[in-house]
Amino acid sequence: MRISVIGCGYLGAVHAACMAKLGHEVVAIDVDERKISELQAGRSHFFEPGLPELLHEVLQTGRLKFSSNIADARGSQVHFLCVGTPQRKGEYAADLKYVDAAFSSLIDALEAGNLVVGKSTVPVGTAARLADDLLERFPEATLAWNPEFLREGFAVKDTLSPDRLVYGVPSGEDGHRATEQLDEVYAGPMGLGTRRLVVDYATAELVKSAANSFLATKISFINAMAEVCDAAGADVTLLADAIGMDDRIGRKFLNAGIGFGGGCLPKDIRAFMARAGELGADQALTFLREVDDINLRRRIRVVELTRQLVGGSLLGKRITVLGVAFKPNSDDVRDSPALSIAAQLQLQGADVTVTDPEALSNAKGRFPELTYEPDFNAAVTKANALLVLTEWDQYRSLSPADLASQVTSKNILDGRNVLDPVQWRAAGWTYQGIGRP
Ligand code: UGA
Repeated sequence: MRISVIGCGYLGAVHAACMAKLGHEVVAIDVDERKISELQAGRSHFFEPGLPELLHEVLQTGRLKFSSNIADARGSQVHFLCVGTPQRKGEYAADLKYVDAAFSSLIDALEAGNLVVGKSTVPVGTAARLADDLLERFPEATLAWNPEFLREGFAVKDTLSPDRLVYGVPSGEDGHRATEQLDEVYAGPMGLGTRRLVVDYATAELVKSAANSFLATKISFINAMAEVCDAAGADVTLLADAIGMDDRIGRKFLNAGIGFGGGCLPKDIRAFMARAGELGADQALTFLREVDDINLRRRIRVVELTRQLVGGSLLGKRITVLGVAFKPNSDDVRDSPALSIAAQLQLQGADVTVTDPEALSNAKGRFPELTYEPDFNAAVTKANALLVLTEWDQYRSLSPADLASQVTSKNILDGRNVLDPVQWRAAGWTYQGIGRP
């Protein structure tokens, strides 16, 4: 099929490359010419394992092209809207200005029988509003909503073989045709067994908000248990293992630590609360405020634990933060709990050095006043405490014996509960986990 993808950020760049991999002719469009020229040269403007290789492969086939001109969307049968929906400044609600602008600019490029497919995470009701708009401005095209569930770090795999496909379509003949068009787009994954659900617009939009809310709730639940474990002298990692053995609960997303961050979960639960309020259903989601509060409380707790670890005062203490991306295998620092903790420690008088395999330049752009050190050995030298805040593989496998001679004081805070306390303590370190005695 001939496909256009509007927006070449995280979602759009991966989606475009994967659609070309599935055999489609793809034009990917963004207003940012710098992004376009990087991608056209086979370079990704963000770190995502497997994406540069995939770009290289599909660009060579000639099936993928990048453009900064929306008119190049003309000729495509299916148009994916993949632009961002950030949190509005000073509010909980999502900012839809990019979705609205992309949608409006696409109208002139549409042809009869085209399908416009929203993939961005939007407040429920957005698809119905855009469908009305489309009916007025170009009734020969149809709108569908097809939310995206990819995880950063696994984005290529999640797009090529997703758990499920959800199509939000209008009722009647238009809906049938939209379903057939999307089935043709996703014939590859469906042939490999990916399940698909066909629902109305509102349900499709809510599936995404509900999924991210559930994941956030699961993480905050286990972090709340970590608080209780701390108070009671119990071990939250063993507790998670034990409750996770119940199939109904499951062990995934039960890792207690410094909490969730990134460009999705925090802003999505807030936008969901804001939208429920507009719909008069705010009571249904008041628990998400608690989920958010538990999550933010983790950051304050880690600052306190660090203060205790270095003897009661942060002033002048050399603290090294290992990992600043919001999670491993990513260079994304949007709402990163690690970066927020690093900044708070610095503001409270510590001398903070940050190292990370991929995220340093993004972090530096946000908090230039921290010291950023790409060399691991230089970063840990003479530290009064090491803080593992993002569980990159290289930090999971650190050797307490090797590190001992480099630091000033053998203090380690394991913000993701990924180190073995027995091993670290045996090597003479003071080990501090989260919700572990
Ligand atoms: C999340 C969802 O997992 C995707 O399904 C969704 O498509 C995406 O948002 C989106 O809306 O676009 P992502 O933001 O890539 O994906 O990150 P996650 O893997 O969900 O992790 C989010 C945060 O939770 C990270 O900071 C991670 O460190 C933290 N986390 C995760 C925990 O603290 N504990 C856990 O057990 C799991």
